[in-house]
Amino acid sequence: MTHADPTVEQAARALAGGALVILPTETVYGLAADAAEPRAVAALFEAKGRPRFNPLIAHVTGLAMAETFAGFDDRARALAKAFWPGPLTLVLPVTDAAAVCDLARAGLDSVAVRAPAHPLAKGVIAALGRPVVAPSANRSGRPSPTTYADALEETGAFALAALDGGPCAVGLESTVVALLDAPRLLRPGAVTRAQIEAVIGPLAEAEDDAKRSPGRLARHYAPQAPVRLDVIAPEPDEAYLAFGPGAPEGPQVFNLSPTGDLAEAAAHLFAYLRAADRTAPRAIAVAPIPAHGLGEAITDRLRRAAGFVG
Ligand code: TXA
Ligand code: MG
Repeated sequence: MTHADPTVEQAARALAGGALVILPTETVYGLAADAAEPRAVAALFEAKGRPRFNPLIAHVTGLAMAETFAGFDDRARALAKAFWPGPLTLVLPVTDAAAVCDLARAGLDSVAVRAPAHPLAKGVIAALGRPVVAPSANRSGRPSPTTYADALEETGAFALAALDGGPCAVGLESTVVALLDAPRLLRPGAVTRAQIEAVIGPLAEAEDDAKRSPGRLARHYAPQAPVRLDVIAPEPDEAYLAFGPGAPEGPQVFNLSPTGDLAEAAAHLFAYLRAADRTAPRAIAVAPIPAHGLGEAITDRLRRAAGFVG
């Protein structure tokens, strides 16, 4: 039984007791567990139906908490100062392996860490007093939930408590940057490549991103219907994710941003993929999306939904 509408303190107590909690963040809803507790983390993998080799992000209140278990160099500190709290995840050497248990790190000697901006996420982590691991609250292979209702539908059955934080303002998962050797972009996301490069200089490409960031599997964000990209004129029996002014209209058309605003499109992406899927179309056709800025992350998620290796 999910306890709906708990207080921040009740949610933190549930986590401390080893239970799972649905936690809103500004990017997507997460399914949270106490990062230090292997049994809670095992229950989390089970709830998601997620391969165990996929490491999780430790969510913190800020730099001070992160520095108790992760090694920050000057570049890491500069990025945290520029973008935290917010949608940037840093992969760093782990310095206290017990704070984020082996299972949560999938046995790696690195740890992914981010300070979310959503007040409910911040409040729960502060009340618990230690990091919380939280993958997106979808079952493995499904689009990330960006509304409370979608999060409940995906993994509500596994959570002891669920916090309603409203629709997610960003709507796309955090950008993941590894600072282990040369800085690398492992997952494009809400903070753009250009924003990161403005702080620490050029990013190297991930050589083998499926290995380095195993969450980036093809078909990670898959609706039921097949997805077709770069479509200007959808077929009559297709749902259509449109972008920008002058798009066709109709019951199966979902315009990611009628004004052509990429931030608005990102915020709508997963909810509209789900809505399009619910019309049981032969396929979901998607309009061309500009490549600049947030377009890189949106296109990355759409290519995964379409089943292309990224
Ligand atoms: O916006 C977000 O990041 C959301 C919200 C809930 O915070 N969380 C999220 O978590 O997207 P998840 O588990 O779905 O994605 C975590 C990503 C995966 O691609 C994973 O492979 C990568 O981070 N990751 C985690 N630890 C890593 C590590 N040590 N090395 C490389 N990649 C890592
Ligand atoms: Mg995910």
